[in-house]
Amino acid sequence: MLIINCCTRFHAPSSIRISVVRRRTHSQTHSFCCFGHENNSLAKSPMEQSNLSANTVMDHPRALTDKINLIRDAGPSKFQVIADFDATLTRYRVNGLRGQTSHGLLQQGNAYYDAKRQALYDHYHPLEISPLIPVDEKTKLMEEWWSKTHELLIEGGLTYEAIKKSVADSSIAFRQGVTELFEFLEKKEIPVLIFSAGLADVIEEVLRQNLHRTFKNVKIVSNRMVFNDDGQLVSFKGKLIHVLNKNEHALDMAAPLHDRLGVDTAEEDEENANMKKRTNVLLMGDHLGDLRMSDGLNYETRISIGFLNDNIEKSLESYREAFDLVYLNDAPMWGVLELVSQLFSTEAS
Ligand code: TMP
Ligand code: MG
Repeated sequence: MLIINCCTRFHAPSSIRISVVRRRTHSQTHSFCCFGHENNSLAKSPMEQSNLSANTVMDHPRALTDKINLIRDAGPSKFQVIADFDATLTRYRVNGLRGQTSHGLLQQGNAYYDAKRQALYDHYHPLEISPLIPVDEKTKLMEEWWSKTHELLIEGGLTYEAIKKSVADSSIAFRQGVTELFEFLEKKEIPVLIFSAGLADVIEEVLRQNLHRTFKNVKIVSNRMVFNDDGQLVSFKGKLIHVLNKNEHALDMAAPLHDRLGVDTAEEDEENANMKKRTNVLLMGDHLGDLRMSDGLNYETRISIGFLNDNIEKSLESYREAFDLVYLNDAPMWGVLELVSQLFSTEAS
């Protein structure tokens, strides 16, 4: 069992203040911290602060402070945010039950096809999370799963209307603070790349219905559908993105992302090239594999934030080693918002 044995206040340069609670196991010392910013209008109530603090884990506060300084010195024009969607931007639990994913919420309006997709889920999901299957073998299995599911969506004649209804009926919810985070980043003209092995059209509809607005800095890289004039799904664009090939190469592989907004391919290419010049990154994910989302980017400095939602006892050790900062138990985004607001405060930029 972990025992709290001392509490220090860690003073980082230039107004970053991090409360650190050091905890010692038999042989290791771990640090738990929460970002606090005095006189910061984004700061939450003492109760919210202490809840967040209790759900925040960080092993190397000084290393994180060094990264923060490097990113701040380089400025917002060199910075981008890469975020996974399901269980990272969205909550893992909604009203006490497992929240739905962009795939999971989809009801085709045809019970036969919904059941067939569910059967695929029941077969492949255990394989997805099995630590015993080698990556190349698992990659093939994931390709198989995603391809079969996409085929069923086409064969079952999914319509855009069914997507709208599915989202309206779904139990999917964003973490608290996501809107505020996107708003802050939009004001600073910092791009946010939402990287998902889910379904772009569903994610867009979730953003529309749950956040009630769009953000010009937010771009979705995910599997995108093509509908015919009758509003029926006929194909998918670009290369299939599954859970094991989610890395920034997917930016080049994925179909043009802003077709509907009338952005042409040349503009899209230029936009992607500009994204790659932003070599300081804040990466957020809920799986260790999400760390690979920045693979295609030759990044200089990366701050990684992991959301550990389930199996905390078993997974905490590997998460705290892999991520700079880990949030537990469906923590809200307030800590991330404070972090970016400290990186690029209004006075600094
Ligand atoms: P993410 O990349 O946004 O985390 O989404 C990928 C998740 O989608 C992955 O964990 C498995 C899940 N999934 C389903 O729930 N149903 C499906 O039919 C498929 C293909 C994936
Ligand atoms: Mg996820």
